[in-house]
Amino acid sequence: MVIGRVLQEQVQEAVEALREGDLVAFPTETVYGLGANANNPDAVRKIFRLKGRPSTHPVIVHIDHPRYLQRWVRDMTPEAKKLADAFWPGPLTLVAKRALAVNDVITGGQDTVAIRVPNHPIAQQLLNAFGGGIAAPSANRYGHVSPTRAEHVREEFGDELKLVLDGGDCKVGLESTIVSCLGDGPRVLRPGSISLSQLRAVAPNIQTGPNPAAPRVPGSTTRHYSPQTPVNVVPSRRLDVVIDELSGEHEKVAVLAMRPPAKTTRYMTWINAGIRPDLYGRQLYANLRTLDKSGAKILLVEEVPEGERWDAVRDRLKRAASAENIVTYDQDIAAWVADFGDEGEMV
Ligand code: TXA
Ligand code: MG
Repeated sequence: MVIGRVLQEQVQEAVEALREGDLVAFPTETVYGLGANANNPDAVRKIFRLKGRPSTHPVIVHIDHPRYLQRWVRDMTPEAKKLADAFWPGPLTLVAKRALAVNDVITGGQDTVAIRVPNHPIAQQLLNAFGGGIAAPSANRYGHVSPTRAEHVREEFGDELKLVLDGGDCKVGLESTIVSCLGDGPRVLRPGSISLSQLRAVAPNIQTGPNPAAPRVPGSTTRHYSPQTPVNVVPSRRLDVVIDELSGEHEKVAVLAMRPPAKTTRYMTWINAGIRPDLYGRQLYANLRTLDKSGAKILLVEEVPEGERWDAVRDRLKRAASAENIVTYDQDIAAWVADFGDEGEMV
């Protein structure tokens, strides 16, 4: 039987690898995961070693059906239950009080665990055949761009990872929405493709933004989901001015925009990612990888619109751009505008 691009035998091979304590990369609807048997702490440690991820950063446990929840979670708040009913299987991760048997290596020593029921057919098939929880972060080196194709996973790990199940392109392309459901009420820890209004329709009291008492989310460190090339988010109306300035200095630039270029130059690689947030999000990481390989000194990203439909994309872009880059860029522009007067004259 063929599930997507993967044969039943490959799923079986992956199940055996997981049982032996090896790692397997597999597709989900969000991004590819780097999976290990969640009941085998030595296997889960291999994830941290391969990714280069600090051991205090917790990983998500994937299960194929909520009926296995009680193995991992000791308390589902009423909101957690409603959110699970509404969005599982799907791109939602819930953080809840962990069951006592859950290993510290998964939770980073915290009293909570993150759980997700993915809806990708290969992930479902794998989890079902494996019969247990699979601990899986995104299948990329720590801090890098998440993989949305099997070839991205191979780019990240090469021969260090034997088994990658190829499910083609991920449909969502951005990591799951994470909602913590603890005693203090539901809170969005990481925006994803499920919008705030969709969440609010199910859990009206849901909060957003950082909670000083909230569990750690390493994705919320300043720089994360980053290409190697420095990323700068540029206001739309200034994009052409900045490109002109950089090409004038013969700097190679890579541009991720929502429209075609006003003019082309030999110093520029341009991707028009369009104006639809779902399509933009689906392609975002593949586009960042492509632009990263263009040999540009700098990667300019046209600022995306306000509004909740762009929340997840805006969040990832903000993290891909290091804080220092944004500041430097603003200072450059301020100096540049001061030198030349109205920036509009320069276009
Ligand atoms: O879409 C996704 O969520 C993908 C696929 C593979 O499922 N996974 C993913 O995993 O993005 P990762 O490890 O790259 O990001 C998971 C995030 C991390 O920021 C981690 O800190 C947070 O989930 N997390 C895990 N356990 C947590 C917990 N107990 N409390 C708070 N945050 C937690
Ligand atoms: Mg990740």
